[in-house]
Amino acid sequence: MKKIKIESFLEVYPSMDILPKTIFSLMEDACEARDSAYAPYSDFFVGAAILLNNGETITGSNQENASYPSGLCAERTAIYYAGAKFPQAQITAMAISAKAKDKPTTVPIPPCGACRQAIAEYEIKQKSPIPIYFMGEEGEVWKSESLENLLPLLFTSKYL
Ligand code: THU
Repeated sequence: MKKIKIESFLEVYPSMDILPKTIFSLMEDACEARDSAYAPYSDFFVGAAILLNNGETITGSNQENASYPSGLCAERTAIYYAGAKFPQAQITAMAISAKAKDKPTTVPIPPCGACRQAIAEYEIKQKSPIPIYFMGEEGEVWKSESLENLLPLLFTSKYL
């Protein structure tokens, strides 16, 4: 029996203020998008902003449902809209921010597993990595150069 080691590297920015200008502005859009979240069940408000190579920015927020699994995360709301509205565009970067009602989220909130799988599909579609920046309400921003760092052993169409 041999062992396989899987390693990922992320970049850590102490705060959003030192992000490159375009990404700072994208993160601002993600923070603003939190306000459109419909999250009466979790009181957890997530915003996502996607920058496209045609200059457009698409935002999304989590949309919940009384039938819980019918709700959708912010990241997928945004990326599916981007795919539907601009099917030929490439995603240049994605920013995510999350805020809870009763306690400040001071640690970066990463995208859930289902969102990672969805983002991965678009990396494969566009044949180039999607840098992902994520944070809480305040504090550090973590950057993953590609979705691959967040979801090793990805299931893709090559197995079908
Ligand atoms: N949520 C997101 O929008 N993105 C994630 O990656 C994690 C979770 C939402 C789903 C639900 O509305 C709330 O946060 C609590 O799980």
